[in-house]
Amino acid sequence: MRKKIIAGNWKMNKNFEEGLALVSEAANMIHDEYQGSAQVVFIPPFIHLNAVSKLISAESNLFSGAQNCSNHASGAYTGEISTGMIKSCGASFVIIGHSERRQYFNETNDWLARKVDAVLSENLTPIYCCGETLEERESNVHFDVLKKQISEGLFHLSAEAMKQVVIAYEPVWAIGTGKTASTAQAQEVHAFIRSLIEEKYNKEVADSITIQYGGSVKPENAAELFSAPDIDGALVGGAALQSRSFADIVKAMK
Ligand code: 13P
Repeated sequence: MRKKIIAGNWKMNKNFEEGLALVSEAANMIHDEYQGSAQVVFIPPFIHLNAVSKLISAESNLFSGAQNCSNHASGAYTGEISTGMIKSCGASFVIIGHSERRQYFNETNDWLARKVDAVLSENLTPIYCCGETLEERESNVHFDVLKKQISEGLFHLSAEAMKQVVIAYEPVWAIGTGKTASTAQAQEVHAFIRSLIEEKYNKEVADSITIQYGGSVKPENAAELFSAPDIDGALVGGAALQSRSFADIVKAMK
């Protein structure tokens, strides 16, 4: 059985007090109302990470994560945050290659491959993001784009290392737009990603990898998305900024 993982990516939202209040409220709701076995990950801005990590515990299946990291271990890289620092703050996950970082910060697949290595070197879990733009989907090159993102960012890994990776499929046209990929569209891509992994590694590796869907996931569409056989969770943006909606998305995962 693959791990089910629901993660909330806060992006650049919530000041420190607001962030801690959100985690406390959501953690209480999930504790009181959720009977399933999904892992839940809070992914706040870096400077909240240590305090957020202290509010939650892995025994309750609650984890924290970072939105980005440096590909260097330490040194003269002003403004950067290493995976060792992230780990020492109590976090377990790191998002790598979110489309906003690819788009606004020019992060390339090669660059992201080095970040994946930095995350794995600290035994943290990378959430490696991939996804096509609307233009790419409309010109029917989305499978090529996804194949390039996945192979260049991840396929240098050994089979053992690959099993530690979580993949998030986030079609850029569905992020923050209110436009969700249909369950059939998302399932088609998730199955495609799994087939790429099987082709490169083997069926055991492909079957073991958690693939999350991201892009306008809400309490209203979560259960249907989660019913698809290859959708193993969600990477939630806007709806993770409110405790009630985030907890309701978690509750939609059986
Ligand atoms: P929204 O849920 O706001 O569309 O954002 C998705 C996302 O980018 C999560 O990383």
